[in-house]
Amino acid sequence: MLKVTFTPAEFEALARTDLSQTTCVVFDILRATSTMVTALANGAERIRPVATIQEALEQKAGHPEALLCGERLGRRITAEQTKGTDFDLGNSPREYTAEIVTGKSLITTTTNGTRALRACLGAQEVLVSSFLNLQATIDQLRNNHPKQLVLVCGGTHEEAAFEDALAAGAIADAVWDLFTERTTEDSAQISRSLWQAYRDSLNDSIQHALNARRLLAVPELAADVDCCLQMNTIDQVVRLDPQGWIR
Ligand code: MLT
Repeated sequence: MLKVTFTPAEFEALARTDLSQTTCVVFDILRATSTMVTALANGAERIRPVATIQEALEQKAGHPEALLCGERLGRRITAEQTKGTDFDLGNSPREYTAEIVTGKSLITTTTNGTRALRACLGAQEVLVSSFLNLQATIDQLRNNHPKQLVLVCGGTHEEAAFEDALAAGAIADAVWDLFTERTTEDSAQISRSLWQAYRDSLNDSIQHALNARRLLAVPELAADVDCCLQMNTIDQVVRLDPQGWIR
């Protein structure tokens, strides 16, 4: 079975599904999974994605050495939102330099991306993907040939996100021959068709997506869009382990 989930409304159903025989690939291109992949490539030891600010603070109490990371409304979380604790980093991949993250544990909460990851926690394998490490993800899937593959899009607000659907389509296209028509859901065909239509004009088409427009409108975040649209700059398979750490 090959399918794609497009919206956050599907996270809850996913969390209730028996995923023990399923591989999930999670995308939040702008920007959560792109940032996580960048952080690990730049030497972060591990990343704990959590759904809420409260959970992030609780995790920090158990891991005082960890950096607190993430965003709400695209911005770093501040003391006003936590009753006293300023987070160390926001959700821009450009903040996660080797200088700042090498050897560090990170605890992160973002609007949709970390919720998507938490929903997949019971899966046989959870891969964390982005355009940055797309080919590494594809190679891993082709080697492992999962019988059940769910491509999970983070979305924008509570809606589908164009850039996530495109990335899911790129994966669907690359593993299409591993599945039969009977085991391929329409959601996979939809995203694959989108990828085939826009693969040659990726940057131009994504500039018009809501998430990109939101980031481009904020001068200090605008460069994140191009940064997250780089293709295959990181040759690393990234996984969420059963203990809830991304490595
Ligand atoms: C999210 O997790 O919803 C996003 O990555 C939002 C963002 O970084 O702006």
